[in-house]
Amino acid sequence: MYYADDVVEEVRSRNDIVDVVSGYVKLQKKGSSYFGLCPFHHEKSPSFSVSPNKQMYYCFGCGAGGNVITFLMEYENYTFPEALKVLADRAGIELPKQEMSKEARAQADLKMTLLEINKLAANYFHYQLKQPQGRAGYEYLSKRCLSDDTIRHFGLGYSNKTSNDLYRYLKGKGYGDSILKESGLFTISERGTWDKFWNRVMFPIMDTNNRVIGFGGRVMGEGEPKYLNSPETKLFDKSRNLYGLNFARSTREKYFLICEGYMDVIAMHQAGFTNAVASLGTAFTTQHASLLKRYTSQVVLTYDSDDAGVKAALRAIPILKEVGISCKVLNMKPYKDPDEFIKNLGADAFRKRIDEAKNSFLFEIDILKRGYDLEDPEQKTNFHTAVAKKLLEFPDALERDNYIQAVSREQFINYQDLKQLVSRTAARLGPAWAETRQTAGYRGYTDSGGPSLAAVGAGERGAREETLYEQRGSLAAGGRTRGPGQRKREKDDGAKQSQRLLLTWLIEDPRLFDKIQGIITPDDFKDELYHTVAQMVFDGHAAGNLSPAGILNHFINDETQYKEAAALFNASLKDSLGSEEQKKAFSETVIKVRKNSLDEASRTAADIGQLQEIIKAQSALKTLHISFD
Ligand code: UTP
Ligand code: MN
Repeated sequence: MYYADDVVEEVRSRNDIVDVVSGYVKLQKKGSSYFGLCPFHHEKSPSFSVSPNKQMYYCFGCGAGGNVITFLMEYENYTFPEALKVLADRAGIELPKQEMSKEARAQADLKMTLLEINKLAANYFHYQLKQPQGRAGYEYLSKRCLSDDTIRHFGLGYSNKTSNDLYRYLKGKGYGDSILKESGLFTISERGTWDKFWNRVMFPIMDTNNRVIGFGGRVMGEGEPKYLNSPETKLFDKSRNLYGLNFARSTREKYFLICEGYMDVIAMHQAGFTNAVASLGTAFTTQHASLLKRYTSQVVLTYDSDDAGVKAALRAIPILKEVGISCKVLNMKPYKDPDEFIKNLGADAFRKRIDEAKNSFLFEIDILKRGYDLEDPEQKTNFHTAVAKKLLEFPDALERDNYIQAVSREQFINYQDLKQLVSRTAARLGPAWAETRQTAGYRGYTDSGGPSLAAVGAGERGAREETLYEQRGSLAAGGRTRGPGQRKREKDDGAKQSQRLLLTWLIEDPRLFDKIQGIITPDDFKDELYHTVAQMVFDGHAAGNLSPAGILNHFINDETQYKEAAALFNASLKDSLGSEEQKKAFSETVIKVRKNSLDEASRTAADIGQLQEIIKAQSALKTLHISFD
């Protein structure tokens, strides 16, 4: 959905952020800001700040930040249009009707119509369930221990035996063949049109806004396929939807449960585990993970206990880790899936299994072990080597040591021996790594004179075996002790930090614009996002309407970007620019930003003339003095 910038900005500026946030978080004034306990992560002392001047919130603990619109999006899990609507209502602003291009309009209409059709179909199926012709369906669901409440809650239904009654029903409502074809509910051939689903119990699939986007239908008893699902349509993209998320999104639990199937989700919700979702038989994707990440950073995998379930878990773990979701794996034995487990042992036993769920790394080690015959000394040694290699996945020395301890405990491997094996394995994978230890700044030490593991992957978050091998290759080829990429990254971080400090300073005290006049322009901010933001800050200042919260509106559709943009205005400064020390720090920051910009320019200079200009500017910078008088 599209709203003009000035509409968004009006809604934003007419809702004071302190007022709005106060409705959710207890705030206390401290200096020019308000502080409270962060609603986005667990903490004991307040690091969540709300600035009335900036009209922004920012958490120094977890980095959550944004304006009043993004606050509602994050807190209430609203989409942008939802948050905008709530805030517009709150301020008594009437949002204009959507202005869209003809094509966009047609697409939106098409989706709207498909949603209508799905909703009608879901109601139709649900209605049949309680009719004489739907008796078999209702009995099947009852036999599977689903209560009337559950059936209603999930909107379950039944598709009749007659093979085109839904089609006739929808035709009767005035829908044409072409749109019905797009709904995925029908099979259309020369010989006629048939309902795709017949004589099955029906599971409507809803998106996070409770709109029906597709269906699954199960045979009652044996039969192939067991579940028939809607094909992908304009509404339904399997890799982007999780069954049950429309309910799970408002759970009070900190973690989500992920399972495989319709019945698992439903059984878990019925037993009180309303934080369960399923990827519905399809492999768990990165898109699924990013979707979940909006709601939680912890999951417990409750996949089937069979080989396919184990495989699915092993695939999902790295995908979840990649987006920053930590996971555990629940032991379902001796049952096949959550539905069967709960039916047999009940909710309390299931909760206990959740509490006992295994750290995903230790689970992976368990599975790894299955590939070795530990009675055989050679294979046992190979297993230990594989474990050591896997432990190198952790780039951080302390974290890795915690896992070495845990693995040695669980697998009955002597801790010191395992630690040494890990060190030796690291050495074998990359002998030159030891030298990087001093520069990498990791606190590590060497046992038995071997190279220190502490250096392995320092600065390389999430380094995996492949990367270790790649690094080794480049070391051998270039004879360097550190990859050029790594050095550049550290430098970038320093440069960016200065740029963030400078932007925060300028926002906090616009008088400083005078001090940097003729020295810094938006072009000195090199990163694309930084540059865009800096340009808006400078333009806003020049026009006399600098508004950091307003600037954030531009990034609202991209969660990563608005968080990063929010951080640009919230580098941690020491109070005001009162002291000499602060003035010095400001000058140094300005010089750093400018120097970095010139250095970069010199690398990309087009000709010798340009280069001379840059060199002149570089030497001028050495004598630069910023006056505060
Ligand atoms: P399962 O075969 O584990 O079924 O498939 P289930 O969930 O335990 O179902 P019940 O308890 O026998 O009714 C797991 C999921 O894989 C998808 C479905 O989403 C199912 O819930 N699946 C399975 C299909 O899409 N088609 C199939 O034919 C089978
Ligand atoms: Mn099952």
